[in-house]
Amino acid sequence: MDTVLSGIRSTGNLHLGNYFGAVKNFIKMQEENNCYFFIADYHSLTTYPTPEDLHNSVKSVLAEYLATGLNPEKSAIYVQSDVREIPELYLLLNMNAYVGELERTTSFKDKVRTQPNNVNAGLLTYPVLMAADILIHKSHKVPVGKDQEQNLEMARKFAKRFNHMYKVDYFPEPQPYNFGEQLVKVPGLDGTGKMGKTAGNGIYLIDEDKAIQKKVMRAVTDSGPTELNSLISEPIQNLFTLMSLVSTPDTVEFFKEKYANCEIRYGDMKKQLAEDIIKFVTPIRKRILEIKEDNEYLRKVAEQGAEKARASASKTLKEVREIIGFRKF
Ligand code: TRP
Repeated sequence: MDTVLSGIRSTGNLHLGNYFGAVKNFIKMQEENNCYFFIADYHSLTTYPTPEDLHNSVKSVLAEYLATGLNPEKSAIYVQSDVREIPELYLLLNMNAYVGELERTTSFKDKVRTQPNNVNAGLLTYPVLMAADILIHKSHKVPVGKDQEQNLEMARKFAKRFNHMYKVDYFPEPQPYNFGEQLVKVPGLDGTGKMGKTAGNGIYLIDEDKAIQKKVMRAVTDSGPTELNSLISEPIQNLFTLMSLVSTPDTVEFFKEKYANCEIRYGDMKKQLAEDIIKFVTPIRKRILEIKEDNEYLRKVAEQGAEKARASASKTLKEVREIIGFRKF
C-alpha cells in the first residue's frame, strides 16, 4: 500500500473548485492508501499571521476538511506544528539544499518581485520544509496542483541527494498522485478561467444562501444564442459545467435544449443553478459549523492524528540520524 501525503494550506476557506477539484477525490484516495493529511501552519508564518488568526484559520480548515469527508479513523489528520520531528528533518535537509537552487524556484522569484521588502529566509527554504513534510513519512505519492509541481520536484531532488550522499536507498522519490480521469476543472463565475481564491470568483462551502444567489445571478453571460444549435460560448459553458456538478442530468439537458432552440433565458438558468448549489452546499455548511463548535471533537481528532504522525515521523528521524552518524556511544 502506498503512503500518500497531502499538505493543506492553513489559510483560506474551501470553495467548490477545491471541493470538486481535489477534496472529493481525497475521499476515495484515503480508502486505497495509507494517507496523511496535514495542515501546514509552519509554512503560514512566512506571512506573519496574528496568534489569533493563526489558531482560528487552522481550526476552520480542519473543520472544513472533516465536514467534507476526511476520515480520522482511516487517515492521519494532523497539524504540522504538532510534529516536532518535521523541523528537525528540515534542519538536516537544509544542509544539503543550495541557496542557488532555492533562489531559482519560480515561487521564490515571484516573492522577490512582488514583496521585495519581505524576502525572509523562510520563503527561501519553503521547498525544504515541504520536502521535510513529505519525506518524514517516506511518502510515495503527493497530490499536488500545478503551482506545487516544482516544490515536489525539489523534494525528489533532496531525497535523491540524501540517498546518494549516504549511499543508501532510504527515501522513496515522491511522485505526483494522479487522479486521472476524475480530475475536474471547476470554472469560476467571471466567464473565464478556474474557480480560485485570488480570482474572487468562487462559491465557498460556508457561503449562506443569499450570498450564493447573489454570486450566481451576477455571473458573466453573453448576449444569448441567435442561431439554432450554435456553439456555446465560454461563460455559458462554464455555467453548464457548474450545473453538471450540482444539478440532475435532466436539468442540464433541459437548459441545453433551451439553448439549442434559442429559447434560453439566462436568468432562469441561473436561478436553477443557484438553487441547486444551495441544495448541495447547505448540508456541508451546517456540518462545518457544527464541527467548528465542537472543540472537544476537534481536539480529539488533532491529538489522534498527531499521535499517528509522530509514530511514523520519529521512526524516520531515528533512522535518518543513524544514517547521518548521530550515534550513541
Ligand atoms: N505548499 C503547499 C500549498 O501551498 C502546502 C504544503 C506544505 C504541502 N507542505 C506540503 C503540499 C507538502 C504537499 C506536500 O498548497
